[in-house]
Amino acid sequence: MALNLNPEEITALLKRRILEFERGARVTEAGTVFSVGDGIARASGLSRVMAGELVEFEGGLIGIALNLEEDNVGIAVFGDDSAIKEGHPVRRTGRIAEAPVGPALMGRIVDPLGRAVDSGPPIEAAERRKIEIKAPGIIERQNVTEPLQTGYKMVDVLTPIGRGQRELIIGDRKTGKTALAVDTIINQKGQDVACFYVAIGQRRSAVARVFETLRQHGAADHTTIVAATASDPAPMQFLAPYSGCAMGEYYRDSGRHALIVYDDLTKHTQAYRQLSLLLRRPPGREAFPGDIFYLHSRLLERAAKLNAEKGGGSLTALPLVETQANDIAAYIPTNSISITDGQIFLETNLFNSGQRPAMNPGISVSRVGGDAQIKAMKQTAGMLRLELAQYRELAAFAQFAADLDAATRHQIERGHRLMEVMKQSVHVPMPVAKQVAIIYAGINGYLDDVPVSEVQHFEARLLAFIDGNHAEFLRLFAEKQVMDDALKTLLADILRNFKKSRADHPAA
Ligand SMILES: Nc1ncnc2c1ncn2[C@@H]1O[C@H](COP(=O)(O)OP(=O)(O)O)[C@@H](O)[C@H]1O
Ligand SMILES: [Mg+2]
Repeated sequence: MALNLNPEEITALLKRRILEFERGARVTEAGTVFSVGDGIARASGLSRVMAGELVEFEGGLIGIALNLEEDNVGIAVFGDDSAIKEGHPVRRTGRIAEAPVGPALMGRIVDPLGRAVDSGPPIEAAERRKIEIKAPGIIERQNVTEPLQTGYKMVDVLTPIGRGQRELIIGDRKTGKTALAVDTIINQKGQDVACFYVAIGQRRSAVARVFETLRQHGAADHTTIVAATASDPAPMQFLAPYSGCAMGEYYRDSGRHALIVYDDLTKHTQAYRQLSLLLRRPPGREAFPGDIFYLHSRLLERAAKLNAEKGGGSLTALPLVETQANDIAAYIPTNSISITDGQIFLETNLFNSGQRPAMNPGISVSRVGGDAQIKAMKQTAGMLRLELAQYRELAAFAQFAADLDAATRHQIERGHRLMEVMKQSVHVPMPVAKQVAIIYAGINGYLDDVPVSEVQHFEARLLAFIDGNHAEFLRLFAEKQVMDDALKTLLADILRNFKKSRADHPAA
């Protein structure tokens, strides 16, 4: 069968087909807005748009396609939707939401799309990353091995956090959640940990205050603030944590370390609920959409410690959740508790009684961080935990008992002092060596004869005494990271000397 094939003709035909194909496709690249309001636009004609794709309205306003329905697309608008009118065109961009990443972001405040919102120049990042990607699989991970210190004695010893861990900070408003998270960022100074503070639904002034605190403590340069404030539209608040997470992943995936704070996920769920209701998705428990649990677990799974093959980098996450009247059994708190590696419970009554940080040591846990705790801390932690547990039990019982035996009284007295030692004010992170020194003093009875009201003063003087006269303890501690016999003897000597010098000069 002789078929007369003319190559030129075929080429021309193919070329024409290709051109026509593109033209045909282009029709579905744009659509028309048919309704708009409450930050949601609906458009028809965008039949090829992908879920999560960015679209552009007339005038450059950006939106994200969230609901793909048979004959229309629900779009959340990033900005003031009053400029969009029915009948306006809307175009695909072919891009999934991305954020700029890398060193150019350090020291800056940006919105969830990575645009500068401080007074600095526009962000010139060399790289952009998709903000919603899959978390590393189990094979690519390893257990946490290095500590991520908060600088708070109580947290570092009782609920230690490891690099790559997810530790929930949960409590009512004004219990010190933000302070704990911000101070953890401050404590990463000089540790080669890039920090990200994601502010969701807060007042602008509160975000400015956090930045100012970081700046004052020399921590702004290793931190990026991703801010979607209460005055920003819900879609922006919804995107903020993913965007911050992508920025942190840049460090994790290049063998470095990052810390991300989500302040807070309660506001994030509220933004998502608002968005979902406007998109007319069916509401579930507490009117939250059914996928809220999935939403947060997907986000928190991205915090990880990667294995050596993957570079050994880490992303540590501190999500904050605000409770109402201490109700940790509510929907969002229980969800969050179940998808993190531990939680720090902060309580109003402790806070108001002056026990700050207001962590309840009885119910706060860190399920994996113990593996990352340095040996010296682990040794101290075991004894402290036991002392405090016994103290709590006895103190509750002692309220009803008239006369207590000497041993019980002694235990309670020591517990009082240890709880005093647990107190620490804001923005004064303490290095591990000093944490161990004062806690060691407490559990070994060196504080038993110090009046409870003087414990904090004693501590301050002791640490100054170590700085001034026994810097060798700090040096040896850093070297060994374990309280061996030599270090124990040294610390005991220091404590005896210090107490003697106090006895000699009671005013000191
Ligand atoms: N350990 C602490 N010691 C003294 N004051 C604290 C401590 N932690 C927090 N605060 C103060 O308590 C107030 C509320 O803290 P904040 O972190 O804003 O609470 P939350 O984020 O839980 O609402 C702030 O003024 C903060 O400085
Ligand atoms: Mg707060």
